[in-house]
Amino acid sequence: MKESLTDKVTSLAKRRGFYWQAYEAYGGVGGFYVLGDLGTKLKDNIVRLWKKMFLDKYGFIEIESPTIGPYVVFEASGHVGSFKDAMSECLKCHNKYRADHLLAEQGIQVSESTRLDVLEHLMNENKILCPECRQSSWRVTAFLTMFQTNIGPYSENIGFLRPETAQGMFVEFKQIYESNRGKMPLGVAQIGKAYRNEISPRQGLIRLREFSQIELEFFFNPNNNSCEYLHQVDDIKMNILDEKKVARGDEIPYRLSAKEAIDKGYIIQPWLAFFMALSQKFLNELGVKSEFQRFKAKLEGERAHYSAQTYDQEVLTEKYGWIEVAGHAYRQDYDLKSHTLKGSIDMYVVEELKEPMREKKTLAYVNSKRVKDEFNGKASEIFVEISKYDPKTLAQKLNEVGKIELEGVVLGREYFTLKEVEETISTRKFIPHVVEPSFGIERIICATLEHAYSERENRVILSLKEDIAPYKFAVFPLVKKDGLDEKAKEVFNMIKAEGISVLYDDDGSIGRRYARVDEIGVPNAITIDYQTLEDDTVTVRKRDTWDQNRVKISEVLKT
Ligand code: GLY
Repeated sequence: MKESLTDKVTSLAKRRGFYWQAYEAYGGVGGFYVLGDLGTKLKDNIVRLWKKMFLDKYGFIEIESPTIGPYVVFEASGHVGSFKDAMSECLKCHNKYRADHLLAEQGIQVSESTRLDVLEHLMNENKILCPECRQSSWRVTAFLTMFQTNIGPYSENIGFLRPETAQGMFVEFKQIYESNRGKMPLGVAQIGKAYRNEISPRQGLIRLREFSQIELEFFFNPNNNSCEYLHQVDDIKMNILDEKKVARGDEIPYRLSAKEAIDKGYIIQPWLAFFMALSQKFLNELGVKSEFQRFKAKLEGERAHYSAQTYDQEVLTEKYGWIEVAGHAYRQDYDLKSHTLKGSIDMYVVEELKEPMREKKTLAYVNSKRVKDEFNGKASEIFVEISKYDPKTLAQKLNEVGKIELEGVVLGREYFTLKEVEETISTRKFIPHVVEPSFGIERIICATLEHAYSERENRVILSLKEDIAPYKFAVFPLVKKDGLDEKAKEVFNMIKAEGISVLYDDDGSIGRRYARVDEIGVPNAITIDYQTLEDDTVTVRKRDTWDQNRVKISEVLKT
């Protein structure tokens, strides 16, 4: 069978040290990879380009928060309850797999919302064979895909390795907002590791247990959601499969700009549409053409618990088909609201209104007599606790969760009197809404490498854009004698001294050396020959065209 491009890239990556499976000395552990020198340089360059395009250009900011968080954070965020995959266990050999993956391999598509009992029935009825023992007897249960640990020496003090960098930006929102002088809207990014205890990762760098994310949480006032930068992405046409197309299995996308997609109602938040278009441009800059990208909506039952709308940004690969490289979600106020309700810091922002306005609000007052009658000696303690809340917050909490939890006591609605009042206000409190572009860096590396890969005359060329190529230059002496090698070292050192990544190679024929740097994407190869000794000129060979030009050494960095 013809080797797929994806497989060719995987073997090139290992052979030349872009990436490889970790712990091979111990048989390898699925879902863990090492980035080698070329991989880390490529990753750094991708991240640098992202920062330029998404942060520097818009004055958005970046933070770095812990990768381990306490149980309460991920309970509030909804991950403890929802971050689960359907796990099928072979009742004969006890190996475990993702139920949806085994079914999909047999052409049975299920969604992320398909119930566990239905999955179990499908696995057994369709006689899905266990990849290990070839029997078919299954039990399907839910598996929490967060890595659990203990914080400190207390087994009851459970912590989790973060499944997304996003929660750091939500939990710390108030501090970030205040230290940025109350700026709204506010874009906050985090770049770092995230962890998912995948049941049976089998797709190389595509499905990892430890991976790197670039996430941007864009906080905005829901009463003013217009996006001032929309016109900047007018020329970008996106391939969009909206929810209706996805539901009916229509794979032919609309081709629309962000503005057109908003006007037609396919994207419900202008900022979400803006970031989607910008992200397409970002992938273009990495060398993935628009026709190999699309945005596919997630259906209601498939979306993460926090999202009102999600588009997966997908790139076409030869082996895996369309793979998700980024998720674009409208997270609303889900996370900030949860942390306000469960944590001790409220995540509200105060907006100065241009004009005073009349506002109806509900206030809650405790029914003192009932509390005194029912709680006797504890009543005064309860009054002190309740006095920490203003009547509006009390009413909000009662409306949202139906009770107020105080030290050791829970008071339901029946202990309060609710009053509707109307007043003139000049400020208004709101919990910011959030849209989130979230990128998986390793998947972007895979997509970038595959779309840069080509073969010519039995040789591999990795046409990485100059901005992201791990090495910008290679320097070769034509032969390793007659002073050519010393001159080549001089040129090599001159480029290195400029802080530019450069390789030196004097091993083997010049043709083989060109081939070696073509396949790792070095855009410029400089050769020092006998003429160099006479007139200080060198040849510069371009990776993609194999054209050679003679230039002065002093001009070499301008090529
Ligand atoms: N923050 C979204 C995700 O990790 O999927």
